[in-house]
Amino acid sequence: MAAILKMFRLRFGGILSRVYLLLSLTVYSSYGGCTFPAEWTGSWFQSGIPSLIAINSTHIQMKGECSETESFDKFLLYDRAYDCYKCMVIHEKHKYVLQYKETYCSLKNSLSSICEEITGDAPLYSMFRKEPSPVPEPCPFHPAPFTFTYNRGSHDCVYPPSRAESCTDDSRLLLRYMACPDVPSTESNVEELVCLASWKEGSTRYLVGQISQVQRRNSIASDEDTYRCFIYKAQHGDKSMSYIIAQSGDATCNGLSSPSDGSRTMKLTTTDDEHNRCHFPSWIVEHHKWFSLDHTHQYHFTTKNATLKIMNTNGTYEEKRLVCHSILEQKEKKHIKLVAHVTRGCESGHVCLTFHRRGSSVLELQQGRLWETPQDACSDHQIPPYITLITTSLTPTRCPLIGRYSIINSLADKRRRRQQINIDESVNGEGTSLCAVGGDVGEDETVSVGCGNAQDTIEFKSTCTSTVYTCYGSWQEGGRGFLIAAPVARSSTHPRTFCFMYTSRSNDTGGNMLVSLSGVAVSCDRGAVPGRHGDKAYNLTSNG
Ligand SMILES: *[C@@H]1O[C@H](CO)[C@@H](O)[C@H](O)[C@H]1NC(C)=O
Ligand SMILES: *[C@@H]1O[C@H](CO)[C@@H](O)[C@H](O)[C@H]1NC(C)=O
Ligand SMILES: *[C@@H]1O[C@H](CO)[C@@H](O)[C@H](O)[C@H]1NC(C)=O
Repeated sequence: MAAILKMFRLRFGGILSRVYLLLSLTVYSSYGGCTFPAEWTGSWFQSGIPSLIAINSTHIQMKGECSETESFDKFLLYDRAYDCYKCMVIHEKHKYVLQYKETYCSLKNSLSSICEEITGDAPLYSMFRKEPSPVPEPCPFHPAPFTFTYNRGSHDCVYPPSRAESCTDDSRLLLRYMACPDVPSTESNVEELVCLASWKEGSTRYLVGQISQVQRRNSIASDEDTYRCFIYKAQHGDKSMSYIIAQSGDATCNGLSSPSDGSRTMKLTTTDDEHNRCHFPSWIVEHHKWFSLDHTHQYHFTTKNATLKIMNTNGTYEEKRLVCHSILEQKEKKHIKLVAHVTRGCESGHVCLTFHRRGSSVLELQQGRLWETPQDACSDHQIPPYITLITTSLTPTRCPLIGRYSIINSLADKRRRRQQINIDESVNGEGTSLCAVGGDVGEDETVSVGCGNAQDTIEFKSTCTSTVYTCYGSWQEGGRGFLIAAPVARSSTHPRTFCFMYTSRSNDTGGNMLVSLSGVAVSCDRGAVPGRHGDKAYNLTSNG
């Protein structure tokens, strides 16, 4: 009877489960009753079953309702549609992975006698939680990157070596398969593994993850195509770490018996010895957090001073992780040039980084382009742009160019500014800029640097307004001066810090100094010509 029922259900299971649902809604009667663990509530994927399996506290869809339970893993389920009972032995391997064995549905009997029908070689089914959505966990293979060899049933694909790289999100690993000319059935391909669940049974370690084909990311891959189960073993070498991994051929954990026996096997070996990683120097990491001048990026030094995390702070979350790989040259408290391994999303490679110390709270960073090998990273002859970094706790320093100056901006500039004021006025209505309208704009503007007791401030003054900046660091480079300064009265919406760049020369007639000055809000842009470019530009003449 049970066997006939089983066959019948195999053929018509889909339709019948719907009928069953209807029946269980309409025909209500009380049952002995037991409950499943609350954590199981949700929808689960099982290979071979087209729709997800819903579990709640009392029911497992397509199986029945909890009727009796014993020793936490044995359940007697009542199938109302067929008025029969089955035993399920369910093991929670991980909060996202349930594995079970079951009997056919049979006539009512005690839990123990029905459950006895389950034999040792009964098939083991795996269910993976889909809803509520699982949160991926860190992959158990580290430290990435690795090189690896793989085998898909014939020979090992050893040369050229394949590579596995970490992503900034450590629950993802990028597997770059290479084709081996001497091994048919190998092809180059990039897969991304998202690690969902890992657990240990005896001495065997399991992992369940989802694999996606990076090149075909836009096509929708089914759960059957993406869920894979792994058995793995770590091997500690003298200086390296290896992982021997077997991967299931389908979306089950069946057919895996040892780390070297699966539909596909791999051997990952670390390529980088963590202990040999270099460290960023103390004159950089003495402040753990740095910001770009406009505060849109945060630079955070972590993990034993060997890792730099660069994050966007403007809402869009994007993180880059740079690990010190090798130091090429350095001069204590002056500059350092190094190669770093960089990871962004699942992309990685090597970049050349040069840090210049410009004061106790100011750094400049030059970051080269992405190269695959560390050897190439600093061999690039292009000069990368400078990024200015500041700490949150800036220390005022003495300003350069101490003295009083008059602004001698060009007529064109005055005209432009007058027009701007007229526009402002028509926008703002009358009254707001009476002062500007009355005066000859710009004519009597002055700049005083470090005057009186305040050697660390610059004041820009016109008849109408005054803006005071505090100096936080300055240096000279190639005939140009650089100064990092921020307005004293910083509005919270515009916490702008400027890089002022200037050139100075003495007037032909002697005595007076001519200074061309530009302020740039984002960085000390070497392409901006002082007095001409930038967010602010002035030509100044000293008043003795
Ligand atoms: C569990 O699911 C069954 C079948 O879908 C339904 O009849 C029952 O009311 C649900 N129980 C709870 C507690 O939600
Ligand atoms: C990191 O650098 C800081 C500042 O130089 C130092 O105090 C700290 O000990 C360093 N940490 C490690 C793990 O090297
Ligand atoms: C400053 O002088 C230079 C030429 O010496 C001129 O090109 C530039 O436009 C001037 N800048 C301003 C803001 O007037």
